[in-house]
Amino acid sequence: MDKIHIGLIGFGTVGTGVVRVLKENAQVIKDRLGKEVVLKKIADRDIERDRGVEVSKDALTTDVDSVINDPEIKIVVELIGGTGAAREIILRALKNGRHVVTANKALLSTHGAEIFSAAEKNGVNIGFEASVGGGIPIIKALREGLSANRIESIYGIINGTANYILSKMTNEGGKFETVLREAQKKGYAEADPTYDVEGIDTSHKLAILINLAFGTHVPLGDIYTEGIGRVTELDVKFAREFGYKIKLLAIAKAEDGVIEARVHPTMIPLGHPLSAVDGVYNAIHINGNAVGSVMFYGKGAGMMPTASAVAADIIDICRDMSGGLSVKDGWRGPRMTPLGYAEGAERALSIKKIDDLDVPYYIRFSAIDRPGVLSRISGVLGAHDISISSVMQKGRKRGGTVPLVIITHNAFEREFRKALDEIEKLDVIAGKTMCIRIEESNGGTQ
Ligand code: NDP
Ligand code: HSE
Repeated sequence: MDKIHIGLIGFGTVGTGVVRVLKENAQVIKDRLGKEVVLKKIADRDIERDRGVEVSKDALTTDVDSVINDPEIKIVVELIGGTGAAREIILRALKNGRHVVTANKALLSTHGAEIFSAAEKNGVNIGFEASVGGGIPIIKALREGLSANRIESIYGIINGTANYILSKMTNEGGKFETVLREAQKKGYAEADPTYDVEGIDTSHKLAILINLAFGTHVPLGDIYTEGIGRVTELDVKFAREFGYKIKLLAIAKAEDGVIEARVHPTMIPLGHPLSAVDGVYNAIHINGNAVGSVMFYGKGAGMMPTASAVAADIIDICRDMSGGLSVKDGWRGPRMTPLGYAEGAERALSIKKIDDLDVPYYIRFSAIDRPGVLSRISGVLGAHDISISSVMQKGRKRGGTVPLVIITHNAFEREFRKALDEIEKLDVIAGKTMCIRIEESNGGTQ
């Protein structure tokens, strides 16, 4: 078998990138694989649109079934996105004995168990490297490179669009909506960009990372998720003055059989390695009990970086199909399960409630500028056992509203919320309060 035929479903941003990588890097892929990867069919709803890459007209089809049912096609690449048609296409392809490659984190985080078990049942591979971190080979790293470790924590910037927006707001003072439109134009954003902005895409990816790192399935509803929609330029500026940067972080920690899983805008110290990760770049910082700290960095979204990960999965599966280096003539089945755990080794772990979180907070009040305001606010905080680390008031507007910023020491979220409810009822507070959790820990990197 010196040619391996594959079929692509979804000729959009990532699909086009895959066609380009397979074409432009055909020789390097052949040199490494010892075989030629032939893209036999490409299915999409629209096969007339110019995608900016040359493909044979005969390869294009609107008939998805003609890809899944083609006996010569061994690997089906799903790049349409979403959880409806994509789920059905993948399950049918697996049932037909096809290997599948997908970048669909929305699908894997909601229907992963069903899809992975269908792959196992049918003795085929499912590659999903592109589902987290774009071009960063984080799935392979967790499943293989770090397989001897007990994973203790994961801190990730894993949404390119949100990081692009926050970086532009921080470094260039860009306006939220304008920068979001830029990210969409560049092909970074999801079909529904609220997934990026509201932290949903990040929590999809965190669910996949948790699955791999801790061998447990976390329902999406158990991942506390908050987006960047309420972060303002003012918060970005205050953050810097206090020595922090705001990043949309995915955080997972395992302690005594309990998993902490959360996604929210987070203030991290300027010296933290993740604070230097800007633009569309992603980074995932992992602590393993043997390896210590490792950090993976690269472009987290966009046509070519994502295509790089999809194509790597295709090559990996082709290698498996030829039985590795020793077996030349026979498929012996995938060399590991999709998540890299032996049968029966996955387990249910409990998820820490957000109320039990114990972190410092940044709070920006819109306070009336009059004597005694601070003592009333600090009185409520004190009554809830929350102590203040620093305070800053910007501007002077006697009787008017000014931003009053407080950084607290560690406090339990449950008490923090109660205190905030009480403070917001005080007559010295005018308008919505902004809170951002602070993560002082550098995850053991220094
Ligand atoms: P696009 O919207 O650019 O491409 C999807 C393509 O599939 C479009 O041409 C779309 O047509 C077509 N399509 C949708 N539904 C069907 C269907 N039922 N039958 C046939 N064709 C269909 O998306 P992306 O390429 O950006 O994303 C693809 C996947 O990759 C998603 O799962 C996404 O989350 C994931 N991903 C994307 C990254 C990125 O940077 N863009 C990075 C990592 C992962 P139409 O335009 O008419 O809807
Ligand atoms: N919309 C996603 C992002 C694509 O911006 O990170 C990569 O998964």
